[in-house]
Amino acid sequence: MYQINISPDKKFCDISPALYGIFFEDINRAGDGGLYAEMLINRAFDDGVIPEDCTYNADSKTITSATGWVSSFNCAETEGIYGWTASGGAHMALTDKDTLNNARKRALKIRFNGGMIVNCGFEGISVKAGCKYRFYMFAKSEKCAQISVSLMSEYGEVYAQQLLTVEGDYAKYECMLESMSDNNKAVLSLSSLSTDLVTIGFSSLFPTDTFMKRENGLRRDLAEKLIALKPAFLRFPGGCIVEGFSKETAHRFEDTIGAVWERRPHWLLWGYNTTNGLGYHEFLQFCEDAGIDAMYVFNCGMTCQARCPDYFDDELVEEMYNDAVHAILYATAPADTEWGAKRALNGHVEPFRCLKYLEIGNENYGEEYNRRYKYFYDKLKSEFPQYTYIATDHTEKNGLLTEMVDDHFYSDPIFFATNNGMYNSLGQNDVQIYVGEYAATIGCKRGNLYAALGEAAFLTGVERNQSKVKMTSYAPLFNNSAYTAWEPDLIVFNNHASYSIPSYYMLKMFAENRGSYVCMHNVITDYDKRYEHGVFRYTFNGEAIIAGSTDENSRSFSADVDIINGRLTVSFWSTCAEGEDQNHYDFVCEDGKCTVIHYNGWSRETICEGHCDLVGSFAKVEIDTNGDEFEIRINGSQIHKATLKAVPHISAVCTVDEATNELVIKIINITERDITVKIISDIPMTDKALITTLTAESMQAGNSFDTPKAVAPVANEVQLEDGKINIGARSVNVVRIALR
Ligand code: AHR
Repeated sequence: MYQINISPDKKFCDISPALYGIFFEDINRAGDGGLYAEMLINRAFDDGVIPEDCTYNADSKTITSATGWVSSFNCAETEGIYGWTASGGAHMALTDKDTLNNARKRALKIRFNGGMIVNCGFEGISVKAGCKYRFYMFAKSEKCAQISVSLMSEYGEVYAQQLLTVEGDYAKYECMLESMSDNNKAVLSLSSLSTDLVTIGFSSLFPTDTFMKRENGLRRDLAEKLIALKPAFLRFPGGCIVEGFSKETAHRFEDTIGAVWERRPHWLLWGYNTTNGLGYHEFLQFCEDAGIDAMYVFNCGMTCQARCPDYFDDELVEEMYNDAVHAILYATAPADTEWGAKRALNGHVEPFRCLKYLEIGNENYGEEYNRRYKYFYDKLKSEFPQYTYIATDHTEKNGLLTEMVDDHFYSDPIFFATNNGMYNSLGQNDVQIYVGEYAATIGCKRGNLYAALGEAAFLTGVERNQSKVKMTSYAPLFNNSAYTAWEPDLIVFNNHASYSIPSYYMLKMFAENRGSYVCMHNVITDYDKRYEHGVFRYTFNGEAIIAGSTDENSRSFSADVDIINGRLTVSFWSTCAEGEDQNHYDFVCEDGKCTVIHYNGWSRETICEGHCDLVGSFAKVEIDTNGDEFEIRINGSQIHKATLKAVPHISAVCTVDEATNELVIKIINITERDITVKIISDIPMTDKALITTLTAESMQAGNSFDTPKAVAPVANEVQLEDGKINIGARSVNVVRIALR
């Protein structure tokens, strides 16, 4: 049976105006060549510089941090000058001497000799006939050198050309290039007859048609896609890039303001360098332009704990603390103060009024975090009480003053659908929640309808609990399709086009249909079992053990283990090869504590907790599984028996829109068949509904550059028969029904 009983005039809770926001992180080259409209790759020539305190391993093209974290490094200087090539007799080389300023680690020395150097952009430079592009470079040459700056095809057909005369010490040379042709694979070339040494310290090519026509601005189509989501806030700059994997790769606000050529670069832990052109000022400017609030995330004195962490000493923690304070002052202090003056100098005399949220670290936890969190929170709150501070862990459970906690979930769609009641038991006096990162990832890498269904089902629960869950943001936001490090991402782009995955359209539907308050309602639905399957694996004190047995169908496990003297982990219903973290359940037995934890993607849910007083060191451990049930016995005694949470066929939430006097009901059908839902309202409804639906022929359906709107919402007016409405298979719906 499927029914929604609604009492429109009984308020369940207010809506949280900040519920739907966006989360920007420079991952998948989301910044330079993406949202940040720069068209030249390696514009400052320092992309190939090994981050401080890291060693380069040429064989594997990786770097190793001082704490032992290994990550890819595909652009080492030993391999060439990333993004730049020389031809026709031109010679170029990098130098660390004579750079433009202290922030610049390299300059490019060139002898043109009648040849040229070329920058290939981000998989090509996309130019359009009649459009203008602003080029500038800082260059020097002892003797006068005339340099032709051209936009051209990779075969040398010139679309735009200007002449710059370089002479003397470093100076800025700029020109406007208007393309005569369309080409998404164009390049920028610099050529000259000069045989003398020319040095370039920094270069840049920008379209003039940026978002709001701002110089050093944002790519218009991508910024507009963000605004179309009607976000309440923007979180920046991350994500793990805030933490970094070494002291130098940790984010610092002070590197991200001022003239872009004077900003120190930042090696991002997603495997590339940024010149920080899309910095703190630009984010605040975008928030102001878009009329949304800003959430700034800063490093709290430690690197990423998933990447061989480095816990900074007190002196460096203090430096990070001051960096956070300066960021706040830069945004908000009057122009006649030190940091306000810097902002004014950068073009914004009045304080930015959009800064509202401050997050202390990212995905940090444990003792080291608690100490730093307390230090930052106590001091910042007393100095700047007006902000909402967000912790990255449940610090309130350790007795620390906590206003809001950032929860993250990357799992499969069923995890989301079955957990739509996750926040039901939160009390009004409990800590507030910001679901700062979430996405259905397992089985949904390209972004598909199935993911959107799971996430939407989860969000119905979030909406019901928005008196406690105040904010959410899907992550990550962007993916340059030529540089994928993480999937799925809400918006996929190349150098000239973009499309949005189904989750984007789902979020747009949700954000556009908030209503004025959540009214009392209850949802009656049937359920499916969550059927699990997979193999058993077990380890004792970290070592894999092969003794023991599982039955032919992999449904039973038994082994004799010395469980008193160590930690036993039996993974069951494990769907992946060892080492991968997709979907499995772990029975962990240590010091008499027996726990079952469900690992699903990056999410971790405790299913059972118990205790077992063992007699004798060797014990028989048995696990029986059957679809959605498991039983665990030790020496024949039942330790745990559990049935997995079932999957609701429909999930729904109802608000009332006071402006239009309508019910706004979000209904998600995650099954493969149409479902008739009966809507019963205490206040009579009209018999017509406007239903906006996101659906497709298959759960796996998604969008692409060729079919960007294959899965996109469609609105229809429908007739209600006795309050009944057909909710199609595999669909996210927003139903608006006028009250009489
Ligand atoms: O969103 C991608 C990454 O996921 C973020 O950088 C990090 O916070 C999380 O682990």
